[in-house]
Amino acid sequence: MSFIDEKLGKKVIDFDTKKYNFYDLILHDFNDYLSQEYGEKIDKLSNLHKINIITKDFESLRQRMFSVFRGEEFQKIYLSLGKEIIDKYYDKKALIQKTPTARIQPPKYMTTSFHCDAWYGHSSITTSFWMPLTKVNQNNTLHMSKDRKISLDTLDELVNSDYDLEKINDISQSICEPIILEYGQIMCFKSDMLHGAKVNTSNDTRVTFDFRILQSKDDLGFKSISNYFDYNALQNSELQNNKNTSRSGNKELSRNNNLSNNRFVSYSNSCNGVNAKSQLTLCAGIANDKKINITRNESEIYVFSHLPVLRHYLGPIENQIDGVIAFSLDIFEKDFNLAENILKFAVKNDKKVLFAAEDILVSNSIDIKKALELI
Ligand SMILES: [Fe+2]
Repeated sequence: MSFIDEKLGKKVIDFDTKKYNFYDLILHDFNDYLSQEYGEKIDKLSNLHKINIITKDFESLRQRMFSVFRGEEFQKIYLSLGKEIIDKYYDKKALIQKTPTARIQPPKYMTTSFHCDAWYGHSSITTSFWMPLTKVNQNNTLHMSKDRKISLDTLDELVNSDYDLEKINDISQSICEPIILEYGQIMCFKSDMLHGAKVNTSNDTRVTFDFRILQSKDDLGFKSISNYFDYNALQNSELQNNKNTSRSGNKELSRNNNLSNNRFVSYSNSCNGVNAKSQLTLCAGIANDKKINITRNESEIYVFSHLPVLRHYLGPIENQIDGVIAFSLDIFEKDFNLAENILKFAVKNDKKVLFAAEDILVSNSIDIKKALELI
């Protein structure tokens, strides 16, 4: 049973903005970035568009927001709030998305067309949580179906039609209403609730983020389990916060946070035909986010199927190297035994393997088991 009313399909909950101070965290980080890159600062997030040059490159700012989301400070309060929500509305089988999605919508800009999250692969036991960081108004906020029945009826009409995107948006808009929330409130809604944005016709930039909680791993939709933390990880995170230590036995969190200044080799191979440049570009981006030093790029020798180049860097000879970053688990091209053999070899040699696309770090035998489930 969901804590959300079946007929309404949505519910507003509150959180303590002093305890979970997302706003200041993002504002301070953006100001660090903006002063470094453009020599300017903002007084509040809703004024982001006032830095003229940034309006040409909001995507880099959004990516910056994702980097904050993956960082230790954000994760600490995000997981603490996640645990509070799960303790109140779920049981210990619940899972929470590891990294929320960032949205920045300056005046005159559009963000997301109308949709329901189920259309993007979220299961019926998934609830979405939408949190505005800026005060929103009817001209810049998200719009959502008035209730669930009208959403379901409209979804039924849309999926049984061949309407173009414009018509899908028009019909959806006509059954939706603006969500007017304050910072400190979260809109929780079911995956079959239609919602979307219109062009921002206000004078304020909207900054929001959203995340998802699953009732259990019984129905992941089309999403990977690697996108989620389980309750155990939340408890470990809390323990870690209480002890106020920077490192603990929290293996899940160590995935994202403890690779700073590690020396990695960026590695590519035939990988089901994904070209090497694309593989290495993703590796470079993820390494940059995690502050990993890439000391060299390497490609596999294609005539061998046992991946000798990868083994070399995961072996004991390269003792200055902490690990390898590879594009995806697809580098094993579904060869389970090869993957198991190489990952065990890496762990034996105290080397790490980071798979960029899945954001999975293998550094111990539990990680191997979890990675192999995705082969
Ligand atoms: Fe959505």
